[in-house]
Amino acid sequence: MARSQLTFADVNLTVTVPAGTRVIEISDRIHSGIVYGCREGDCGTCLMKVVDGLENLSQPSVLEARVLKEHLAARDMRLACQAQVLSGDVTVRPA
Ligand code: FES
Repeated sequence: MARSQLTFADVNLTVTVPAGTRVIEISDRIHSGIVYGCREGDCGTCLMKVVDGLENLSQPSVLEARVLKEHLAARDMRLACQAQVLSGDVTVRPA
């Protein structure tokens, strides 16, 4: 299975993850400042900035795209509970 490097800039920690891992699954465990509410792509609490590797994340679903729009999110922002790391390296930090 493909593996990726997921870095949390706010706590300066890099974790090797299997493809398909949602960012929130790791940020929760390592106590990153990326917080969450619903974990279902609805509340927008887990909004994060993708510092590097945006192209290595899954595309936003219709639901996520709607929530991003509602929160006036910049193009480099995603929901940590929805974005899956698919390949390569990704660096994120709290929004
Ligand atoms: S935790 Fe609610 S949208 Fe991610």
